[in-house]
Amino acid sequence: MMKVLFVCLGNICRSPAAEGVFLNLLSEHGLEKLVYVDSAGTSGYHVGEPADARMIEHAKKRGTHLPSRARKFVPADFEEFDYILTMDRNNYWDVRSQTQDEQEKAKVIPFTDFCRRFDITEVPDPYFGGDAGFEHVLDIVEDASQGLLEKINKELNK
Ligand code: 4NP
Repeated sequence: MMKVLFVCLGNICRSPAAEGVFLNLLSEHGLEKLVYVDSAGTSGYHVGEPADARMIEHAKKRGTHLPSRARKFVPADFEEFDYILTMDRNNYWDVRSQTQDEQEKAKVIPFTDFCRRFDITEVPDPYFGGDAGFEHVLDIVEDASQGLLEKINKELNK
């Protein structure tokens, strides 16, 4: 089974959105039994909490359910997961700084690397902003999820 972990700071906005969107996409393609999906935060600020109520509402309007409960990223995740997809530069370097070898480093990838429509390098943190920020996160995450699905689909078919 392929395992994918989405990582942001709090694990209540961006990575839960990515998790929910990607889970939807997997089930649309009948791949939900072949790919395991989880999310985590580099901080422990919100451990145990569901996704932010605003993120849940915006996702719901697009038919996306966000099942996550916040947890902190742990180095054992390097063994467990094949892809560790970070939302911004801080998450990327935070996780990268915990790697111990090249194999672990290769698993850590900015999620926006998989975007096709957006030419960006980060998913902006929506936490302190308004509605538009949450919509923007979903737009980016939907774009990157398509790209990631194509990549994983190719690997599953090898
Ligand atoms: P996330 O957003 O990293 O996308 O979950 C944030 C959530 C909470 C905080 C910052 C960002 N916070 O500072 O509590």
